[in-house]
Amino acid sequence: MAVALYPGSFDPVTYGHIDVIRRASSLFDSLTVAVLNNGAKSPLFSVDERVNMLRDVCRDIPGIKVESFSGLTADYVQNHGYDVIIRGLRAVTDFEYELQMAQTNRKLAPGADTVFLTTSLEYAYLSSTTVKEVAYYGGDISQFVPENIAALIFEKFDKK
Ligand code: PNS
Repeated sequence: MAVALYPGSFDPVTYGHIDVIRRASSLFDSLTVAVLNNGAKSPLFSVDERVNMLRDVCRDIPGIKVESFSGLTADYVQNHGYDVIIRGLRAVTDFEYELQMAQTNRKLAPGADTVFLTTSLEYAYLSSTTVKEVAYYGGDISQFVPENIAALIFEKFDKK
């Protein structure tokens, strides 16, 4: 029985992430999506907001758990007995960083392997950063994130 962890910032979750979550959930016996609580970055959404958004958009995908974590992914993986780390690969530009991260995690947590899912072509261009930038300038983000997530993003920018 293989249990998988999909770690990330998810600030905010996009259709690209949801695509990876759906596909990973059908490949593994159990899948946990884990939101990094990273004090070094200043995210648009708090960790609790990101967890809630993920729980909301994943509510129709059976068996998905959404958690948050701090510190090293490798420690979280080891402490919770995960076998697999899931990461999405959009383009070759992702590869160098992702390879380095996978190899580091393999050294730190030798019991787990990273499995890359290539993002579906329709989402290959998509990133949370781009979504935030388009929304910041009032652009249409309806093709990038679910409607309720778009509303939350615009609400954030209205408050700022
Ligand atoms: O969604 P992101 O920002 O691409 O996710 C990156 C993430 C959270 C998976 C990565 O930054 C991470 O694992 N951070 C936790 C700290 C850590 O383990 N760093 C060493 C990675 S080699």
